[in-house]
Amino acid sequence: MTPEKNAAANLRFELLGAAHDRAAFSCGVPALDHYLRKQAGQDVRRRVAAAFVATPDGKTIAGYYTLSQHSVDLGAMPEEFAAKLPKYPLVPATLIGRLAVSVSFRGQGVGELLLMDALHRCLGGSRHVASAAVIVDAKDENVAAFYAKYGFLELQKVAKRLFLPMATVEVLFR
Ligand SMILES: CC(C)(COP(=O)(O)OP(=O)(O)OC[C@H]1O[C@@H](n2cnc3c(N)ncnc32)[C@H](O)[C@@H]1OP(=O)(O)O)[C@@H](O)C(=O)NCCC(=O)NCCS
Repeated sequence: MTPEKNAAANLRFELLGAAHDRAAFSCGVPALDHYLRKQAGQDVRRRVAAAFVATPDGKTIAGYYTLSQHSVDLGAMPEEFAAKLPKYPLVPATLIGRLAVSVSFRGQGVGELLLMDALHRCLGGSRHVASAAVIVDAKDENVAAFYAKYGFLELQKVAKRLFLPMATVEVLFR
């Protein structure tokens, strides 16, 4: 690991909890900041999302992500991937609904570590509740480039929605 990635090396990953300072978090995208401050706790309580934070000290939030169960139309999958699946109309998947890094921690490898933690959790979950792919919504081209770096592919017919086959995730952690 390069020295500039030290911030990432000192982080731990936890379920979002009361000790985490949500009010101080800012990633530069108001909707993602607002979600963490006002909505994430409710979503966790109502079991529509699980929220995880990366933190250096148990209080400061360097980044966060959310996971939910999801499904994708088989017809939206690229042919090469769809051909390997049974012809059920819906493919079970895991959604990384949101993923954001604080501006104070940007460019230090935190985004990569958050994504790896999320993918590892998706893989672990898929062994108990089947999931054939990880899905993310890339809000713009810039963010799509971040996910493309890790092998995410575009879903057909759904703008800005990307996916990574769980089999690819499994290879990542082998
Ligand atoms: C996108 C984001 C998560 C990246 O986080 P980060 O901590 O700055 O990224 P990292 O330092 O871990 O970078 C990991 C790698 O991705 C690359 N990268 C980072 N942002 C990138 C981008 N927008 N496009 C392409 N590559 C990118 C880095 O260069 C690095 O590659 P390298 O190891 O080869 O140098 C962060 O910029 C962010 O939170 N943005 C605002 C919120 C957002 O848009 N979230 C996505 C919602 S869909």
